[in-house]
Amino acid sequence: MSHLETTGDQGRYNEVAIKYAGKIHRSRSGSKLTSQPAVDDLFPSFNRAGLGIYREYEQMGNQPVTDALQAQADLQGVTFEHLGLSIGTVLHDVDLKQTLSSATIKLIRETLLERKVIFFRNQSLAEDEQVKFGRCFGELDAFPFGKSGDNPYILEISHDEKHPGTENGWHTDVTWMEKPSLGSIAQCVVVPPFGGDTFFADSYAAYLGLPAKMQQRLQHISGINDYRVFLLGRGEGALPENLAEEIKKEIPFGVSHPILRTHPETGKTALYLNGAFLRHESLYDNRTGDALDVEEAKEIVSFLQQQHGRPEYVCQFKWQAGSIAFWDNRAAQHYAASDYYPHERVLRRVTVSGDSPYYNPVNQ
Ligand code: SIN
Repeated sequence: MSHLETTGDQGRYNEVAIKYAGKIHRSRSGSKLTSQPAVDDLFPSFNRAGLGIYREYEQMGNQPVTDALQAQADLQGVTFEHLGLSIGTVLHDVDLKQTLSSATIKLIRETLLERKVIFFRNQSLAEDEQVKFGRCFGELDAFPFGKSGDNPYILEISHDEKHPGTENGWHTDVTWMEKPSLGSIAQCVVVPPFGGDTFFADSYAAYLGLPAKMQQRLQHISGINDYRVFLLGRGEGALPENLAEEIKKEIPFGVSHPILRTHPETGKTALYLNGAFLRHESLYDNRTGDALDVEEAKEIVSFLQQQHGRPEYVCQFKWQAGSIAFWDNRAAQHYAASDYYPHERVLRRVTVSGDSPYYNPVNQ
């Protein structure tokens, strides 16, 4: 039976569909554009995620890494495996247990800046080795709300049948700090039998994919971030009030950060927020100090919280024991899938100290 030989209503429908497919095709090919349309027009409002990633790739020179970086890698015998168009690269043939040369540290740092998150396989660093590796990139930040272990710079992110995963929301780390950590370096110690992947999203592309009106609206908006979720205990019970008050006296509770952040090294603009630490109603105009209408503030935050999750901006990393991820908190957000309960998953993290976020519209 040929494709035209269908019967009944379906046959009638198909005849009409085929007739109009031909008519529409002829009508469109008759009005063929002679010049290439503007890229913006190819990505209409319902499909700006595609434009965001295209714009960021364009900023990258339409290549996954610069020629200069590729040359450095070739010279050092390091192979790149890119996981996404604009974000995520595995560096093969690097042994992080060795004392790293300044050329290798430079290569790692520049790959991080260009690719936003980088990965290493089969490292299995001991705690002190992980701390030593972190210190190649600056001072480290201790984490006051984690499980205290032997090394105060190590945070153990551990989940099992009594403690389901909690990092399954898009976020950039520690925005409750006045100077949030520049980057985080996590090593997988216990891998679940399945699931537990971490997703990383490109915050430059997420910004570039926002509607122009929203980009404009966000230019001078800041919000207040705090660590109340840790005081409340995330399922483990709130801290006693006197202890919480004591902590608040010593660690600022409620710090202001802009929603758009200029990356201090690349000069690019990133969308910058952590929905768990940002007080959603706290947005204000940082030129005048005027608070936004509470409903508008909440709407903006809820809209922006969806933005990093668009698959176009995301690369996915499947952990093995001994894998390391190093992400730039100023250029990427991450989301750890909590899809392995009741199995165990353990990561060990160190964080490299950062600086105060700012936004400089001159870099647009
Ligand atoms: C984190 O949010 O820092 C942890 C990421 C992960 O558990 O994969």
